[in-house]
Amino acid sequence: MAFLNAKVSSTISKKASNYIEIQLAATLIHWYSREKRILPWRESRNPYSVWLSEIILQQTRVAQGTPYFNNFIKKFPTIRDLANASEQEVLKLWEGLGYYSRARNLLAAARQVSDEYGGNFPSTYKELLKLKGIGPYTAAAIASICFDERVPVIDGNVFRLIARIFGITADISQAPSRKEFEVAAQKILPIEAPGDFNQAMMEFGALVCKPFNPDCQRCELSSFCYAFKENAQHLLPVKRKKIKAQERVLNYHVFTHKELVCMNKRAKGDIWQGLWDFFLDERSDSNYFAHEYKGEVKAVYGPISHKLTHQNLNVWFHQIEIANLTKFQELANKLELTIFSIHELVTLPKSKLIVNYLTRVKF
Ligand code: ADE
Repeated sequence: MAFLNAKVSSTISKKASNYIEIQLAATLIHWYSREKRILPWRESRNPYSVWLSEIILQQTRVAQGTPYFNNFIKKFPTIRDLANASEQEVLKLWEGLGYYSRARNLLAAARQVSDEYGGNFPSTYKELLKLKGIGPYTAAAIASICFDERVPVIDGNVFRLIARIFGITADISQAPSRKEFEVAAQKILPIEAPGDFNQAMMEFGALVCKPFNPDCQRCELSSFCYAFKENAQHLLPVKRKKIKAQERVLNYHVFTHKELVCMNKRAKGDIWQGLWDFFLDERSDSNYFAHEYKGEVKAVYGPISHKLTHQNLNVWFHQIEIANLTKFQELANKLELTIFSIHELVTLPKSKLIVNYLTRVKF
């Protein structure tokens, strides 16, 4: 188009690109209206249930998270009910879901909304960010889905979809890259029903534009997609390799006396804060107590391999039956452990590792 001057030419190409963006958004919204999953938190735009679902879904798949969502809503139908709960109750409902700081933050935010906002969620992205455990992703999800604010939601699925469609090669594990993805997502985000559009992006990433073997043959966005044209689906998004997980040996000492067990409530500053486990000795001669109570060791289970995001745990359980009740009580005092009857253990919040052990072991 040599005859067009530069200004006119750039206006035309901007219009053309706007047209493509509108087409892309319309195709995606149409797909979502047909294919979206029927999920309990999609039944309303109530910020309490949207918030709860988004926190649960941050590190968890829909199929695993849905029963947890339903149990929470049943036990705590409103944010005030949740705000009045104890940390132990909330951790118990969260049991098995992992990343337990989410549950502690959930309670803290519920109390903030109850105390500082009269039980009503703040309605803007900026204000939502002030709540405990709510970062850019959750704030954008609540603001757009519940209050129609035009802010893009960028989760792992959206990073992948945008990287492939626009051919963005910025490393998604690096915080500064986020801006580039936000700018691209903002461009295609419609004014009307931005919450539906955001959910459509996440849903499309989860169901069609999958990390491995994306369904490009059936993909309705393939004509807009850089990666499809260049056959670069497997190269996008760019994500630096994870740091190697730290190896860690845990020697649990399960002190029992008949039907009684010594339990340890985990303190601040390590994994599983607020959850219950057994006495843990992590020194290099780490089964020291097992030696000291050699005659009383009833069983040893292990090593059990348990993977967390940044730690590979190798876990041993030394079950030590103390025949003398006074000695058992003195030991509990000395090691600051709490004595429970084995029948009470089901009421305590525990990590999956401990739940699995307790279902297998015989006392
Ligand atoms: N993943 C997390 N939140 C989601 C939502 N609202 N819709 C689809 N997928 C999601």
